[in-house]
Amino acid sequence: MGARYKDKNWKDAMRVRIDVNNMFEEYIGEKHGIKPEEVDEMAEKIKKAHQNINKQHTEGKLGFIDLPDSQNEVVDEIESYAKENRQNVENFVILGIGGSALGSIALQTALNDAYHNLRDTDAPNIFVPDNVDPERFKSLLETLDLKKTVFNVISKSGTTAETMSLFLIAREYVEQEVGLDDLRNHFIATTSKDSGKLRVIAQREGFKMFYIPDNVGGRFSVLTPVGLVYAAFAGIDIRELLAGAAYMKKLCSTPKVWENPAYINGTLQYLAYQKGKKMSVMMPYSHSLKDLADWYRQLWAESLGKEKSRDDEVINVGPTPIKALGATDQHSQAQLYMEGPYDKVVNFIEVEEFDTDLQIPDLYEDIEGVSYLRSKTLADLLKTEKRATELALTERERLNATIIVPKVNEFTMGQLFYLFEMQTALVGELFNINAYNQPGVELGKKYTYGVFGRNGYEDMKEEYYNRPNKKGKYII
Ligand code: PA5
Repeated sequence: MGARYKDKNWKDAMRVRIDVNNMFEEYIGEKHGIKPEEVDEMAEKIKKAHQNINKQHTEGKLGFIDLPDSQNEVVDEIESYAKENRQNVENFVILGIGGSALGSIALQTALNDAYHNLRDTDAPNIFVPDNVDPERFKSLLETLDLKKTVFNVISKSGTTAETMSLFLIAREYVEQEVGLDDLRNHFIATTSKDSGKLRVIAQREGFKMFYIPDNVGGRFSVLTPVGLVYAAFAGIDIRELLAGAAYMKKLCSTPKVWENPAYINGTLQYLAYQKGKKMSVMMPYSHSLKDLADWYRQLWAESLGKEKSRDDEVINVGPTPIKALGATDQHSQAQLYMEGPYDKVVNFIEVEEFDTDLQIPDLYEDIEGVSYLRSKTLADLLKTEKRATELALTERERLNATIIVPKVNEFTMGQLFYLFEMQTALVGELFNINAYNQPGVELGKKYTYGVFGRNGYEDMKEEYYNRPNKKGKYII
């Protein structure tokens, strides 16, 4: 029995495509639209960007490029570990934040039933607190049967304050419940192989460990054990997920901008930014892709929002990503997109086929204003609303593109992750920035370490306590 992702016809039918018609002058008008020649004129820059990406990859820096096709052993290990342990686990909790949580949340929303945790399935219930809110976390710890719960503590650095605090609290609760001897059966650590304190703790406690390759940054790590261990526990086919990423990797390997989906969309986003469209909206018309937009928001913001260029010049660049959801946000944000400033590009995601559909009953024929809905389906309504919004935006000369997803499944999710990662890598090159660091985030972390008295951060503590006093007259 062959897996469907080995069948070329099925794979091609599941290909994710990008429709960029509405980015161009022909549809949007010359005031805001992009000319195809402008894309052509980028050829030299794109060629250089492509070479830079390849160079960094060859130097072993961009590990995300290798993930789709280099993890056979890791996948074997994860699958057999999940298979062995899944049956005994009622709840699987991810303790991680940012890049160590958002990919798993996106996978969960996309690939598990919307009410997975309320359904009686083979897979455990999944929880990702993704924050240090005390009320929420306490409630979780008091709600779950900790004897039947496994926590996957995910931190590449092994020092992130939020993750390590949640771990320390969870560890205490679990120890009280199951005793010290059984503690190791309730924790997995996913971290760097060679550094960080989580590794030291996990070794001391005898926790099962999975490793995040050093050359894969947090927000590019969903296809490492960061996302894969959770996915295997949740019953997601991780081989198909990686096969989808490998399929997109092939499509994105050409330097020819008009043939490479990541490059064409990245280039158009870059050109739009240069024309003052500094906001980038991601708006899936499928609730299951809602958290993909959240994952993408972090990828785009943390990678591209930078103060300095690679040449150390102050440039303060970065498109602001906005997550939206169709049709929900038609009743919230769409007014602004239609009539507000011409500062946005809208990226729709359209799903061609839903796993299931619901027919609207044939009722109230005599009541105009309701009767037109009779015998249509919810999928029809969602798709029509997307296309209507797209047309309305286009008529108002608002740049928009559509990512077309044949169906939401492991294969297409793998494609989407890789597509957006490569698009981000390209735009980082076009801006001439380092898309793989996050110096701005680090500064906030360092102040927190200083205030909490962590060794080595004494100067940050001093700076924090010497910050300008706030004036009462401005606190109203
Ligand atoms: O993308 C990133 O690098 C960050 O968002 C990190 O994933 C986040 O800060 C968590 O870091 P860590 O995995 O080291 O705990």
